[in-house]
Amino acid sequence: MRVVVTSNVDAYAADLLVGKWDSIRVLGLATGSTPVNVYGRLIQHYYDGTISFRDKRTFNLDEYLGLPPNHTQSYRATMVHDLIQYVDLPDDRFHVPPGITDDYDAACTAYEDDIRTSGGVDLWVLGIGVDGHIAFNEVGSGGDTRTRVVDLADSTVAANMQYFDDDPEAVPKQAITAGVATIMDARELMLLAKGKSKAAAVANAVCGDRTGDTPASWLQSHGNCTFVLDRSAAAGILAKVSADATDVTSAAGHLHVLQIVG
Ligand code: PGA
Repeated sequence: MRVVVTSNVDAYAADLLVGKWDSIRVLGLATGSTPVNVYGRLIQHYYDGTISFRDKRTFNLDEYLGLPPNHTQSYRATMVHDLIQYVDLPDDRFHVPPGITDDYDAACTAYEDDIRTSGGVDLWVLGIGVDGHIAFNEVGSGGDTRTRVVDLADSTVAANMQYFDDDPEAVPKQAITAGVATIMDARELMLLAKGKSKAAAVANAVCGDRTGDTPASWLQSHGNCTFVLDRSAAAGILAKVSADATDVTSAAGHLHVLQIVG
């Protein structure tokens, strides 16, 4: 794993994506507040003519259970709002797990199949929850989990209430999510985190054991994973190492390169 600490997570992440744009055929996307400005920068690059989505395919991590696709707070609608409506991605190449379907088991299997038959995800953008969840893989999620229906942790429901201004109680309590193993199959991962509320989860993910107690810690053994952090989100890691450290070893024995890029 590579851990990059930067004063500008958005610019670093967008530059990383644009720098390897031609090699990304299948792009994994995340909703949440953290990547929104990265998507804004991709839109700008699209307007500038630097990149196109015409030949890309995208897979989102997750969707609330029970919300129709056109519900403003569905992750499909959020992704359209934050990125897809502005770029030239063909409709049939934009994939989000269904929030409503007759057969969730079949939908989960179909989502895994769609990812596989597309050739697999080249790079998946990830966020992290304050409890260390990735996608909606909540605390307790094993490293072998696949796309499935999950119950959301109370802390996740509470964190997401802010988006349901009209009726905070309407936040769904379940979701359909790509599993940890689904995410680990991607050829490259880029996890973004900002702010001190993420510091403990990030430190556990990078420096702790690989355990379902911190689902993001499973990423330690991915061969090509970069955490892009601001100083606040990195505070828990930086507190464990000397000021001039260039690497950090996890309790699980994984050596991570540490780069502080200003
Ligand atoms: P956030 O969500 O980007 O809105 O902080 C991340 C997550 O919960 O996975």
